[in-house]
Amino acid sequence: MRVIYPGSFDPVTYGHIDIIDRCAKQFNEVIVAVLDNRSKKNMFSIDERIELLKTTLSDYTNVQIDTFSGLLVDYAKEKGCNKVVRGLRAISDFEYEMQMALANKKLSHEMETFFMVAQGRYAYLSSSIVKEIAIFGGDISCFVPKAVEDAIKKK
Ligand code: PNS
Repeated sequence: MRVIYPGSFDPVTYGHIDIIDRCAKQFNEVIVAVLDNRSKKNMFSIDERIELLKTTLSDYTNVQIDTFSGLLVDYAKEKGCNKVVRGLRAISDFEYEMQMALANKKLSHEMETFFMVAQGRYAYLSSSIVKEIAIFGGDISCFVPKAVEDAIKKK
């Protein structure tokens, strides 16, 4: 069974990696799909986000990194995969995730969304929080891998 793990990954954090690691154990193949959304102000370009994911996840033989633009349901159809996984951290994630899952179901009835609950130690972690801490000179080494930390410092 294959699953798509879509997101912005701007940049990838230990929270994302935990979800990918656990998915890689539950599914035969995990496609990490990075949204190429040029209208959104990202810290990292699409190529940089992909590169950081590739560096970080190089040990996984059943994880591939890809990119998509447009609707997730169209990308899923193109990949021949109707399963999507999203991480749930806190109840505050739930409303938006539920809305997305239901919208995707409406757009494509075959689409199934699986929610994976984040481990407690990552429940507060997000790419935005990491970027904010880094901008103000805080230590982010416990939130992101070394390659990501170095890349943020360079920006
Ligand atoms: O990491 P993020 O930013 O929470 O990921 C959000 C993402 C990329 C999964 C979501 O914005 C998405 O699927 N965008 C593609 C456009 C789309 O299909 N929108 C309709 C679903 S509501």
